[in-house]
Amino acid sequence: MESDIQGRAETQQLDAHGRLRHLLTLDGLPHDLIVRLLDRAEELRSASRGGTRPLDLLAGRTVINLFFEPSTRTRTSFDLAAKRLGAQVINFDIAISSTTKGESLLDTVHTLEAMHCDAFVVRHKESGTPAYIAQHLRSPAAVLNAGDGNHAHPTQGLLDALTLRRHVRDFSALRVAICGDIRHSRVARSDVHALRALGVRDIRLCAPAQLLPEPVEFANCRVFDDFDAALENANVAIMLRLQKERIETAAIPSQAEYFQRYGLSSQRLQRAAPDCLVMHPGPMNRGVEISGEVADGPQSLILEQVSNGVFVRMAVLAQLLADSGAR
Ligand code: NCD
Repeated sequence: MESDIQGRAETQQLDAHGRLRHLLTLDGLPHDLIVRLLDRAEELRSASRGGTRPLDLLAGRTVINLFFEPSTRTRTSFDLAAKRLGAQVINFDIAISSTTKGESLLDTVHTLEAMHCDAFVVRHKESGTPAYIAQHLRSPAAVLNAGDGNHAHPTQGLLDALTLRRHVRDFSALRVAICGDIRHSRVARSDVHALRALGVRDIRLCAPAQLLPEPVEFANCRVFDDFDAALENANVAIMLRLQKERIETAAIPSQAEYFQRYGLSSQRLQRAAPDCLVMHPGPMNRGVEISGEVADGPQSLILEQVSNGVFVRMAVLAQLLADSGAR
């Protein structure tokens, strides 16, 4: 991941008064802003009675979901979040759009802007695409990063933080192990920033050597290639999928071998602290990075993460659109 992509995203997302203009990355975002977004997610959970009562905070606003990569959770929850706040939502279908006729990304964006929209929710395989779009907009629309390459997935970081906040009292004493394909994971990157904002000090990253990131990228995290060592006494285990679509070399172990060394089984979970919380951003590959028994077991927060995703996305949309006056 190139540092200029990160730098551009960081500087673009806040306006001259330090207000959120776009949400491109959690890196460099003031910690109190992160905490305020989490508080707002809880307020919206109550105000919407868990999502059962429609709100009108974004009545008259239009949100366009622009997903250039597959998505189940992120896209559906952005869609629901915007609708539950009263916005109109267009789920732009790339497969039947003029991008298949060779229309460029920016021509597509400018075309959609010409019909007026208040926000673009963007997922793309290239790191930096949401920042690139934000830089070239011709209208005051906001850009929300829904995952770009291996760079960032800020709303996933926020929803993981929101989920943990409901279960953890003292973040400074927490030991968190993040295990899997760290090198290609935008979730790992955004989770580390969100965990730091909550005050977590002990973050352990674990992956086979070829799936570890460059050491400079995760200063202050301990890096392991032995999962048993990383899991020792951990209070939280965040498991990640092998992102085969981003892995260029074939030098990864077979699925069975991977599970043997890096899979979270019930037996292995016993190495962690009692009641260690288990998380996974999805999509899961059962029997590869996590056993079905652990995924469905009493320590798993996986479906809570999904539920919380809607409230976090409501909070971010409200922050960007409801408070900004007419865009
Ligand atoms: C992740 C993503 O797309 O980055 N999923 C998600 O958004 N919940 C992780 C993955 O694809 O493995």
